[in-house]
Amino acid sequence: MTLAHWADALERHWGIKAELSRLDGEYDLNFLAEAADGQGYILKAMRPSCAHWLVDMQVKAFAHIAARQPDLPCPRVITATDGANLVTLADEDGQDRLVWVLSRLPGRCYAKAEPKSDVLIHEVGAVLGGTAAALADFQHPGLDRDFKWDLMQAGWISDQLDCIADPARRALLEEIAGDFAKLEPDLAALPKQAIHNDANDYNIMVTGHLTEPRHVSGLIDLGDMCAAPRICDLAIAAAYIVLDHPEPEAALAALVAGYHAANPLTAAELDMLWPLLRARLAVSVVNSTLMAAENPDDPYVTISQAPAWRFLEGCNLHPGLLRARLRAACGLPVVDGADRVMAWLQENRGSFAPLMGQDLNDAPMGALSVEESTWPQNPFDMPLNEAARVGEEYEDQGRIWLGYYHEPRLIYAEPAFRKGPWKASNRRTVHLAVDAFAPAGTPMYAPLRGEVFVAENRSGHLDYGGVIILRHETPAGDPFYTLYGHLDPEFLDRLKPGDVVEQGAEFCRLGAPEQNGGWAPHVHFQLALSTDGIEADWPGVGDPDEMYLWRALCPNPAALLNLPDDKVCYAPTDKSAVLQGRKAHFGGNLSLTYNDPVMLLRGWKHHLFDEWGRPYLDAYNNVPHVGHAHPRIQAVAADQLKRMNSNTRYLHPAQTAFAEKILSKMPDHFEVCFFVNSGTEANELALRLARAHTGAKGMVTPDHGYHGNTTGAIDLSAYKFNKPGGSGKVDWVELVEVADDYRGSFRRDDPDRAQKFADLVDPAIRALQDRGHGIAGFIAETFPSVGGQIIPPKGYLPAVYEKIRAAGGVCIADEVQTGLGRLGDYYFGFEHQGALPDIVVMGKPIGNGHPLGVLVTTREIAASFDNGIEFFSTFGGSTLSCRMGKEVLDIVDDEGLQDNAKAMGALLLDGLKQLQAAHPCVGDVRGMGLFLGLELIRPDGSEATEICSYVKNRMRDHRILIGSEGPKDNILKIRPPLTIEAEDVQMILATLGKILREVEAA
Ligand SMILES: Cc1ncc(COP(=O)(O)O)c(C=O)c1O
Repeated sequence: MTLAHWADALERHWGIKAELSRLDGEYDLNFLAEAADGQGYILKAMRPSCAHWLVDMQVKAFAHIAARQPDLPCPRVITATDGANLVTLADEDGQDRLVWVLSRLPGRCYAKAEPKSDVLIHEVGAVLGGTAAALADFQHPGLDRDFKWDLMQAGWISDQLDCIADPARRALLEEIAGDFAKLEPDLAALPKQAIHNDANDYNIMVTGHLTEPRHVSGLIDLGDMCAAPRICDLAIAAAYIVLDHPEPEAALAALVAGYHAANPLTAAELDMLWPLLRARLAVSVVNSTLMAAENPDDPYVTISQAPAWRFLEGCNLHPGLLRARLRAACGLPVVDGADRVMAWLQENRGSFAPLMGQDLNDAPMGALSVEESTWPQNPFDMPLNEAARVGEEYEDQGRIWLGYYHEPRLIYAEPAFRKGPWKASNRRTVHLAVDAFAPAGTPMYAPLRGEVFVAENRSGHLDYGGVIILRHETPAGDPFYTLYGHLDPEFLDRLKPGDVVEQGAEFCRLGAPEQNGGWAPHVHFQLALSTDGIEADWPGVGDPDEMYLWRALCPNPAALLNLPDDKVCYAPTDKSAVLQGRKAHFGGNLSLTYNDPVMLLRGWKHHLFDEWGRPYLDAYNNVPHVGHAHPRIQAVAADQLKRMNSNTRYLHPAQTAFAEKILSKMPDHFEVCFFVNSGTEANELALRLARAHTGAKGMVTPDHGYHGNTTGAIDLSAYKFNKPGGSGKVDWVELVEVADDYRGSFRRDDPDRAQKFADLVDPAIRALQDRGHGIAGFIAETFPSVGGQIIPPKGYLPAVYEKIRAAGGVCIADEVQTGLGRLGDYYFGFEHQGALPDIVVMGKPIGNGHPLGVLVTTREIAASFDNGIEFFSTFGGSTLSCRMGKEVLDIVDDEGLQDNAKAMGALLLDGLKQLQAAHPCVGDVRGMGLFLGLELIRPDGSEATEICSYVKNRMRDHRILIGSEGPKDNILKIRPPLTIEAEDVQMILATLGKILREVEAA
C-alpha cells in the first residue's frame, strides 16, 4: 500500500511512472523507483519531524556539485514538474513529509565491491577530492552544526571513556584522544568548508562486475554534511578504507594520491590524516558503546565495532613513516626541507670528499639485477659461499666497481625480506643504496662532516656487520643521514654516537666476509632524508611496489659520490616497451596471457620472477617438468655444448642411452624411438606412420583436441580448426564426442558410460570408410587437456582401440600432457585406462624447455614406415637433445618426482574438493596427480567463462600462474612443475578460496 502511495506521488509530482521497492533507512522512507525506460531513481520521503534546513542543504549541495563539476560522478536532484527540488507531501497517515528525488547511481556500495584494488581506492580519493573542490564555495546556514560526527569536535569522547570497560582499550582511546587534543589548534587554524563528512564504505558507489574495470559512480548521502577542514573529510573516508584491508598503508597512499590529484593538499594537512583517522574510529567505537548501553539487546552494535577495534588494536603502522609515505604518494617532500637538501646536494655535486679516496667517475658498474645476473642460483637461498662471491665476474685485480641504486636483485633471499607467508609473497628486492666493491680493508673517507648517529656491529647472517650512520646538516640547517654498511667493525673502538667525523677524514674500512655479514667486500652507501620510522634500522632494499616511498625517503646518493645520478641508477627493462616491440615484430595471434601480462626473467623449481624480482608460483607450466633452472639440466647442456652437438647420422652413445631410458618406462612391445623437435612434429610423424602401416588415410579423433601447429596436426586438432575463423574439418577426419562424463552425453551416474562413449566411434569409422578413406588410425590426448582437463571413464580407450584395430587402424596416444610421471599413480595416462597404444607421442616436458619430441612405436609399424627413403630430422636426436631428454627422465626418478606428483596432487585435489563444497560456482573438480581441472559454472550449471577469466587474472594478481581451458574456457587448469611442495599447495588453496569468495560477493 505504501509503495502504491509513493508511486502515485512520484508520477503525479515528478511525472515519473515507476515500480517502487523499499530501501533501508534509519528514520526516513527511501524507495528505489525503476521506470519502464530503465532509468532508476531514489525517492526520499523524510521523517515527519525532519528539519527543513537539513534536506534543503542536501538538495542544494547536490545541485551545487553538479553545477561546479558536471563531469564528477554524483547523483542528480530530479526536479518536480513544477520546478521544485523539494516538495511537501502527505504520507498515508496524513502527516506531511519533505519529499525529494535523486537519480540512482549504478553499481553496488564500496563495502560490497571486490576487489578493493589500489586503482579503485585512488579513484575513491579522486571523487572525494573532486566533491570537496566542488563544495569549496558552497554556503548554507545548516553547515554550522554542533554534532558528534563533526571530527573537529572529536574531543567529546574524552569525557565518555568510562564506558569502555577494558582497561587496555580505554588506555588506547585515551592515547588517541590525547593525540587529537595536541592536533586541535592546528586543525582549528585550517580553513573550513562544506564537506561530505561521511564517505563511509556504504556511501561510495562502485560499478563493474567480474572482469569489468571498477569505477566509482558517485558518493551518496549528504546527511552528515558540515563545515570543517577538508582533511576531516578525507580522514573519515580513510578510516573506513583501512578496515580489514591487508595493506592499510598502501590503501591510504592510493586514497590520498587520488584526492591530491583532484584537490591538492598541503603537507601539513596530510600529516594530520593519521591522528584524525584514529580519532574518527575512536568516535565510532565510543559512540556505539554508548548506544549499546542504551540498547543492551542489540548485538549488532558490538558486531559493527569489531573491524574498528581490530584495526586500532592490531595496526602497527609507524606514524612518522606513514607521514612520509603519504607525502611521497602525493609527490610532496617526505619531510619539511627534503627538497632543500636535495637541491643543496645537487649544487655541491663534485665538491664532496671522495668516499673511496679516489674519483669514481671511471669506476665500472656491475649489475646484480634479476635480469643481468644469476646471483644467487636459488633465489630463495643465499648460502654464505655464494654471498662471499657475489659479483666476482666484475672483479678486476682489486679495481673498485660500483653496484646500482634502484636495482631489483634476488640476492636478498632470507624470509625476512618477504612480506607475506608464502615463498611467492611480495618481497623486498630493490636496492636503495650504491655499492662500491673493493678489497677488504680499503679505507673510507667521510664525504662531508657528520655526527655519528649509529656505530654498531650487526653480526647476523647476511646483515651489515659493521655499520655507521652519520647525521649531516646543510648550511641552512636541514638534516639528512648517510649509512655505510658491511664494514670492518674495528671502528667501534674509536667511534661513538655523538662523535664528529670531519669531511675527508678516514673513518672506517671495508670488512672481509667474516666481518661484514658474509658478503663479498663492499660498502653499501645509502642516503636518507629522515630517520623517522626507520631509526637505526633502515631497509636497504624496498618492495618494488613501494618505490614511490623509498625513492623519496632514500634518494639516489650519487651526488655525495660526485657522480651523475644516471650512472648509478638502474632502470629495469620496461615491460611496456617490450610489449610494443612484440606488437611491432610479431603476428597478432601470438597471444599473451593475462590482462596485465607478466614478463618473466628468472626461475627456480616452480617459481618465476619478473623484472622487479616479484616472485610467482608457477602452477601452470608443464614444460619445466623437473623445475625451472634445474642445475643438472644446466650442467648437461653446458657440458655437451663444450664437447660437440651433432645429429643422428653419426653414432653417439647418448642416442641409445636416451632410447633405452624411455623404453624402460614402457610396455615391452614398444621397441623403436623416433627423436624429433616438438610434440607437433612427433604427431605429424605419427600420422605418416599410421598411413604407411595401414595404407589408409582416415583418422578418428575426439572433439576439442590439440595435437600441434603444422598442417597435418592442425587437421587433427578440432580445438583449432573448429574455432571461428578456423579452416574447418577436412574430409579424412571424423570427430567423436569427448568422453567427458561431467558435461557430456553420458554422465557419472551411468555405469556403462565408458562403453557408450566408445560406441560413438562406430559411426565415425563407417563414415570414413563410406567416403573411401579407410581407417589409418585414432589419435587422442590420453586425458584431453585443452578440452578441459578431462579424465575419461576407465575402460574407454581399450574399447575404442578394439574398434579401431578391428577396422584396420593404428592407435596413437598423445601423452604430451600426461606422460612422464605427472599423473602420480601412472607414468603414462594409457596405463590408467588399461590400454595399449601402437604409437605413443611425447613432447614438452621431455626436454624441460629444450625443444624435443619423441615418438615410440612397435617394430612392425616402424618397418612399414621404412620404405627406403631416409627419415631425418636435423635437430631431432641431436647429441644435446638426447642428453637433455635422458637427464630429465633420470631426474624424475632420482628426485622421486612421480611420487611427489602423487602426494601433492592428492593434497591439491582434496583441498579443491573442499572449495567445491563451499562454493556453488565450482561445478566439478577433477584430475589425477598434478593434472587438475576446476570447472566453473553459473547458477544454472552452464559454463562460467567470465568467472574463470576473473579467477585466473586475480590469481595472477596474487602471484599464482594458472591457466584456463575447455570449449567455453571455463575450466581452471592447474599443472605445475612436479617439484611443487605442500606450502605452495596451501598458497594455491588459500588464494583460490579468497578469490572464490570475491566472486560470490560479486
Ligand atoms: C596434447 C598435445 N599434443 C601436442 C602438442 C604440440 O606440442 P608442441 O607445441 O611442442 O609442438 C601440444 C602442445 O600444447 C599438446 O598439448
